[in-house]
Amino acid sequence: MLNGKSLIEPEDFSLSEMDYLFSLAEKIEKDEKYLRESLRGKLLATLFFEPSTRTRLSFEAAMLRLGGSCLGFAEPGSSSAAKGESLADTIRMAASYADAIVMRNPKEGAALLASRYSTVPVINAGDGGHHHPTQTLTDLLTIKRLLGKIDNLTVGFCGDLKFGRTVHSLAKALARYPKIKLIFISPKELVLPEYIKSILKKQNTDFEESENFEKLMPELDVLYMTRVQRERFFNEDDYIRLKDTYVLNTEKMALGKEKMIVLHPLPRVNEISVEIDSDPRAAYFKQAKYGMYVRMALLASILGVSEC
Ligand code: NCD
Repeated sequence: MLNGKSLIEPEDFSLSEMDYLFSLAEKIEKDEKYLRESLRGKLLATLFFEPSTRTRLSFEAAMLRLGGSCLGFAEPGSSSAAKGESLADTIRMAASYADAIVMRNPKEGAALLASRYSTVPVINAGDGGHHHPTQTLTDLLTIKRLLGKIDNLTVGFCGDLKFGRTVHSLAKALARYPKIKLIFISPKELVLPEYIKSILKKQNTDFEESENFEKLMPELDVLYMTRVQRERFFNEDDYIRLKDTYVLNTEKMALGKEKMIVLHPLPRVNEISVEIDSDPRAAYFKQAKYGMYVRMALLASILGVSEC
């Protein structure tokens, strides 16, 4: 179904293709032997021009668990990018060695550019402050598994909504599901970019923006916390001033519904107190595990396992 496809933005896959991935991920979660060894002989290139823990390791774990192998780099200083090689040339090389490429790059649009030079599927693992579609698959699968549905929900995003690429991808993806209300909580300097808002408006998505966390917390079914993206600030003073605007602590959690779930793409810095980790509504570590299952489903599908 997804054989040979690239994934650059969440909309590259239809809702039924995403549903298919979620059911495959659920099968893998229930039976860890399912599809094991199905990618034996296949190679995945992981090209990370920016730091990563979960995304890179979960892709590598996914590939290895399916019996495939990985090659690549975890920082550009160890690749020929440090000698001035263009992204296009690096991609041409990786495509001639591997069966698929997963890449993260600080420049918006880098993954799209790479897909134009690649002869194998390219998966965007984050392009600057733009998109992060496999985090979106992770987030949607987590919501589906923990709340049993991806419709009829009020989802609050809190923190750095300007630079947070996981927010941009997830908001656009959620807007494709019925009866979704989105609430964007951020300081004025870190509001959602206009281009995302105009997409939501065109789709008649119900959304509101606010600075008032306490007032909106009781409405939420999902609270999606985010880190203030220090590396995308032009000015360290602004980062320091804004970084602790919203910190989720026990008092704030007390305002939330009993069945609400708290997600975070991680890494967390200060925006969720560690005391919240033991609250049954804290789902961010489970979310990271779902990330591996959905990436297993994705790799098996795009590399053309026969059942897929
Ligand atoms: C996110 C990212 O890289 O955008 N991390 C991740 O992939 N899980 C979020 C972040 O870095 O804040």
